[in-house]
This record gives sequence, C-alpha cells and structure tokens, in this order.
Amino acid sequence: MSDIPREERNDAPPTSPVIEAIEREGTGSVVALVGHPIHAMMVHFPIALVIATLGSDVFYWITGDEFFLRTGLWAAAFAFITGVAAAIAGTAELVFVKGIRIRVASWTHATAAMTLISIMAANWGVRLVEAPVLPHGLALSVLAAIFTAVAGWHGGKLVLDHGVGVMVSPKR
Ligand code: HEM
Repeated sequence: MSDIPREERNDAPPTSPVIEAIEREGTGSVVALVGHPIHAMMVHFPIALVIATLGSDVFYWITGDEFFLRTGLWAAAFAFITGVAAAIAGTAELVFVKGIRIRVASWTHATAAMTLISIMAANWGVRLVEAPVLPHGLALSVLAAIFTAVAGWHGGKLVLDHGVGVMVSPKR
C-alpha cells in the first residue's frame, strides 16, 4: 500500500463525492442463511426452468410428441412460481439495505427481473388456456430466455462489480 494520498497518486481511479458517499454504505445481505444470501441460492431454479421450458418447446416442434407439451407446461409453471419466490427475497434486499437501494445497477436488475416474471406468467398462462405452443409458447420461451440472460447478467454485476451480498474478510 502506497503512503501517497489517493488523490495525489497517478494510478488512483477517478472518483467523486457522490461515488464516495455510495461506497460508504454497506451492501451486506439481510435475507441470508448463515451469511449466504438466500436470493442468490434461489435464482438457479427459475433460470434452469426457463431453459427447460424452451427446450421442451423446441423438442415438441421437432418431434410433435405431446410429452413435451406436458413438460413445457410444468416447467413454465414452476419457472414462474420459483421466479416470484426469488423476486420476493431480492426485493427485500433492495428495500431494506440502503447500499443496495441507492445503486442504479440494483434497479436495472430489478426492472429486467420484473419484466422476466411478467413474461414467465404469460408463458404459463398461454399453456393453461390451451393456446397453441407453436408459435405463441415458443416465442414467449425465447423472450423469457433472453430476459433471463439480461436479468442474470445484471444480477451477477451486482455481486461481482459492486460486492453486493459479499462478505470480504479483512486481511490479517
Ligand atoms: C424484483 C425482483 C428482484 C430483485 C429486487 C433482485 C435483487 C437482487 C440483489 C439485491 C442481488 C444481489 C445478491 C443479494 O443480495 O442477494 C441479486 C443477485 C442476483 N439476481 Fe436478483 N433480484 C430480483 C429477481 C431476480 C430473478 C427473477 C432472477 C432470475 C433470473 C435473478 C437473478 C439474479 C442473479 C443471477 C444474481 C447474482 C447471484 C450471484 O451471482 O450470487 N434476480 N438480485
């Protein structure tokens, strides 16, 4: 560590009073199990089930086997249900942790995630009213996969770029 003050070093990253104020707020998780954020544990389920729904629709398109209509229906249902459960845990972090709430990146992730959940609901809904999976269900599955990538990317940025929910041990 250099003894030269940060503002006098040439390698110091550009900063501003706003960024410094944001960096002072804690970003530790409040919805956690022995220090592990529950939201991060839950998001794997909707992500996997969105991909499973898309896979079912593609296999149904290729084979015409009605088995894939049933797997698509159940995968779409549980993608929505587990997505809502994960969103409840994520929303609690957003509302209760000031360091998360004041970051624009948190709201970008939340907006993408809520859009995804709306698409998941529509994708389950079209299957319940027996609308044809081809093309409507397949189109919604593709859209859901795209928004899963967008929401997941921004969620990952919260953890990797902003250190949200990460507990870093001090060096000894
Ligand atoms: C309104 C709904 C949501 C809010 C407010 C929200 C908020 C958050 C927050 C605060 C984090 C940082 C980690 C933590 O504190 O737990 C995070 C991470 C993450 N979120 Fe969400 N989230 C929402 C919904 C979702 C959904 C539906 C998905 C599924 C696609 C998702 C995917 C992720 C991923 C992949 C991470 C990174 C986890 C990691 O790498 O450990 N989020 N989210």
